[in-house]
Amino acid sequence: MAARLAAVFLFLFLSVASAIDFNIPAVFNFGDSNSDTGDLIAAGIGDPLLPPNGQTYFSRPAGRFCDGRLIIDFLMEAMDMPLLNAYFNSLGAPSFRKGCNFAAAGSTILPATAASVSPFSFAIQIAQFFHLKNEALHLLGKERLVSRMISKIYQNKGYGVIFSEVSCEIPNATPIGDACTVATTQLDASVSLLSSPGCSFRTKVALDILFLSLWVVRDCLSIFKMVLQFSLIIWKNKNCNFDLTGQKFKKYVPHKNYFSQGLYMFDIGQNDLAGAFYSKTEDQILASIPTILSEFESGLKKLYDQGARRFWIHNTGPLGCLTQNIARFGKDPSKLDETGCLRSHNRVAKLFNLQLHALCTKLQGLFEDASLTYVDVFSIKLNLIANYSKYGFENSIAACCGYGGPPLNYDSRISCGQTKVLNGFSQTAKACDDATAYIIWDGIHYSEGANLHVASQILTGKYSDPPFAEKMPFALKLRF
Ligand SMILES: *[C@@H]1O[C@H](CO)[C@@H](O)[C@H](O)[C@H]1NC(C)=O
Repeated sequence: MAARLAAVFLFLFLSVASAIDFNIPAVFNFGDSNSDTGDLIAAGIGDPLLPPNGQTYFSRPAGRFCDGRLIIDFLMEAMDMPLLNAYFNSLGAPSFRKGCNFAAAGSTILPATAASVSPFSFAIQIAQFFHLKNEALHLLGKERLVSRMISKIYQNKGYGVIFSEVSCEIPNATPIGDACTVATTQLDASVSLLSSPGCSFRTKVALDILFLSLWVVRDCLSIFKMVLQFSLIIWKNKNCNFDLTGQKFKKYVPHKNYFSQGLYMFDIGQNDLAGAFYSKTEDQILASIPTILSEFESGLKKLYDQGARRFWIHNTGPLGCLTQNIARFGKDPSKLDETGCLRSHNRVAKLFNLQLHALCTKLQGLFEDASLTYVDVFSIKLNLIANYSKYGFENSIAACCGYGGPPLNYDSRISCGQTKVLNGFSQTAKACDDATAYIIWDGIHYSEGANLHVASQILTGKYSDPPFAEKMPFALKLRF
């Protein structure tokens, strides 16, 4: 452990020293539980996550299938950006200013079926992204309109000028029409609302209500009416310290340029492959890889066609080294390799990655004026598992949080944190004493310590195609 920390700190020092700021304003991430920061749980699907999930960093289950942070969390920290909010996070005014995470645990590239853990397969996640993008552009268009109107009013041009000079820029909105007539009636109402002088609580409430309403209304006429009321309130209360830019959405919504400048990250495919082993032969799974990847390709093309220009694609990990798969398919020791991993699963993962890499090479040529980086997470994870003690871990394939004891400490009937009656006794899948000694957290997902290792290896740039050793886009800055 001490050796590992020392290595990480040495790495931190080196990486900070050689960091180049690539200026990534936002991240849009697509994937499964490897990078789900709370989406599936917020969507209300499946069992709630229980402690000890999240114990190491968040002190509570934070929507992540892990004791702490995921690889994506460490990459966000390295870019000096806030941790990504999940698309389905709805409470506490989640900000999507710096991006959004569409990854949901259990998701597949291929369309979901009735048996799928997550209904949010790749094409759905892409559709969710386009919904977010359209809404963002709509809100920003509205905001631009509002701020231009307010500035006109402050140039003392009068309301008539406003109507003739400012046109409605919101796509598909109702034309302005007889806005003037309606607005005059509204003026009287607003004047009486504002009979009290000075910067009163009532004024603030009235403004807040107007602002909140702006989120809801969709047509230009209503916006004009609200802006008139809004500007009148300000007009009557010049002593108050108002934000006159009218840019309320700016805090929550990505700037329109962020959609072309942002980084589009992907970590998906594991569930297509690992899930298939329950119903298909290895040959059948191998034969299905081109279909899986053509679905992936069509999602990437949609994003490119709509302006995405920076792609960052993780390949799939060594599925044969996941405790869950070993427990289910590795009872016969001849199926395991010298590391204790399932040969079949790792073969499939490798062939998937080979074809994914070829697809990435093809798209690097096809996507003009775009950058596309393929990241070999498989090699980082396999090296970690094969050489675990060298990296300061005490276990390679055993789960920290599980039930059943050594060698795997995994029982598919009880997931991490759950209590169930087994053979007449109440049993709980608890965490091990020292999660930092384990690579595998719950039998399916990596521990925070392992995720930190993987992220720091990704950040060396050595596992990427094209490599970025000379032009490090990130510097890993840990938050404790
Ligand atoms: C384990 O470490 C050795 C020595 O550094 C290296 O040669 C080998 O490739 C590693 N194993 C894996 C699976 O990466």
